[in-house]
Amino acid sequence: MAVDQGTTSTRAIVFDAHGRIVSSAQREHSQILPRAGWVEHDAMEIWTNTEWVVSAAMSQAKLGAGAIAGLGVTNQRETAIVWDRRTGRPIHHAIVWQDTRTQPRIDELAADGGSDRFAEVTGLPLATYFSASKIAWILEHVAGARQAAEAGDLLFGTPDSWVVWNLTGGSRGGMHITDVTNASRTLLMDLRKLEWSDDLLAVWGIPKKMMPEIRSSSEVYGHVQVPGVARGIPVAGILGDQQAATFGQAAFEAGESKNTYGTGNFLLVGTGTEVVRSQHGLLTTLAYQCEGEPARYALEGSIAVTGSLVQWLRDNLGIIQESRDVERLAASVDDNGGAYFVPAFSGLFAPYWRPDARGALVGLTRYVNKAHIARAALESTAFQTRDVVEAVVADTGRSLAEIRVDGGMTRNDTLMQFQADILGFPVVRPKVVETTALGAAYAAGLATGVWGSRDDLRAHWQEDRRFESVMGEDERERRYRQWKKAVSKSMDWVD
Ligand code: G3P
Repeated sequence: MAVDQGTTSTRAIVFDAHGRIVSSAQREHSQILPRAGWVEHDAMEIWTNTEWVVSAAMSQAKLGAGAIAGLGVTNQRETAIVWDRRTGRPIHHAIVWQDTRTQPRIDELAADGGSDRFAEVTGLPLATYFSASKIAWILEHVAGARQAAEAGDLLFGTPDSWVVWNLTGGSRGGMHITDVTNASRTLLMDLRKLEWSDDLLAVWGIPKKMMPEIRSSSEVYGHVQVPGVARGIPVAGILGDQQAATFGQAAFEAGESKNTYGTGNFLLVGTGTEVVRSQHGLLTTLAYQCEGEPARYALEGSIAVTGSLVQWLRDNLGIIQESRDVERLAASVDDNGGAYFVPAFSGLFAPYWRPDARGALVGLTRYVNKAHIARAALESTAFQTRDVVEAVVADTGRSLAEIRVDGGMTRNDTLMQFQADILGFPVVRPKVVETTALGAAYAAGLATGVWGSRDDLRAHWQEDRRFESVMGEDERERRYRQWKKAVSKSMDWVD
């Protein structure tokens, strides 16, 4: 079983030994937006939803705890939760990865040593995206928090830690752990030593006592202890969601890659046991570590807003009723009518890292209608992916022959075709596009002996459809040039 604690919902999916879905359950949680740039979640709501989806997926499949070999947890990364170990209650809403409230602190630190001052140790630029500044904000703004943290009463965790702590007993003795992939997103871990960096903890004023123990991504950590909910199942895998998707795509080796289309888009390319530093705006991140093996690394291009732009069209503009309606609306016109949409709602992430950017809809004439805007919104996902692919090619010196894709938006054939056209090489969609959950189940299944090796997992991967590029080179480059111009318009917006 996999528990996928994502940005918009929590899901539990039961897989069989062939990697096929047996049952699944899903619950959305509230997006709390107290001010412009602030994004929060209620961690108690997330935990209640987790209990519910686990029970629902098991009863749907009519399975008892004894039938589940192991449970793997995968999660939205970077999101910071701080809770009281005695009561089990969070002391503040979770501060979500998209939240930009800590920009002033980031600017202050960058003014003294540049935005790459911690990149050698962590693989990451200074940005609001990562957990460190969010933890520091909570310690500073919640009355009594710093004292409690220093006394050892507060725990920090990304959502994997929160879910595992609760699953394994919570305030009655839950395990306070995370895995190397999640730890690598905090801006607090030394990515070679795989340990919390004392220097970085000191920079941010975060007591080490709050930090979870860093473990591998695939081992039996403990057992579910929640009365009535799957009691006794081994908890045997933890992977950040993008790393889980990479694992689920069986992209284990150096040079293998995947691109996930979710709330945002995240492209990962494996670099094996080598730590490769990007010169072109990619992150160096942990890919996975199986128990007793050296860690594997990856380069990552993180794009903050792709699928969430479709939600924005639905919720803020009301031009579609449901997210899936975007494909029909976009396909009702032949092209974008000259409109380009740069969804820099949280600034721009990879490869630009420009917190001063804001959303821009440009190229408008009186001719442009809502269908063109829907199309421009979809196309922005493909253009942003091309930006990241350009960075991968520049960093590795090798072009990509094709790209494996996954995530909800990959069901959108119009988008996948446009993606292939804008990249100029094939986009390959597997039969199971729920690779995030699959990857977490793989990690748990490897640790509990369901599968003997990663080679067994490779055999499960099956192609659903391959989208070949049909757009002419000149047209592709003309559109990409326009996109780059639109990106330049979005920058320098915040004073
Ligand atoms: O880094 C953020 C990422 O882990 C969130 O993924 O799928 O929840 O949008 P998702």
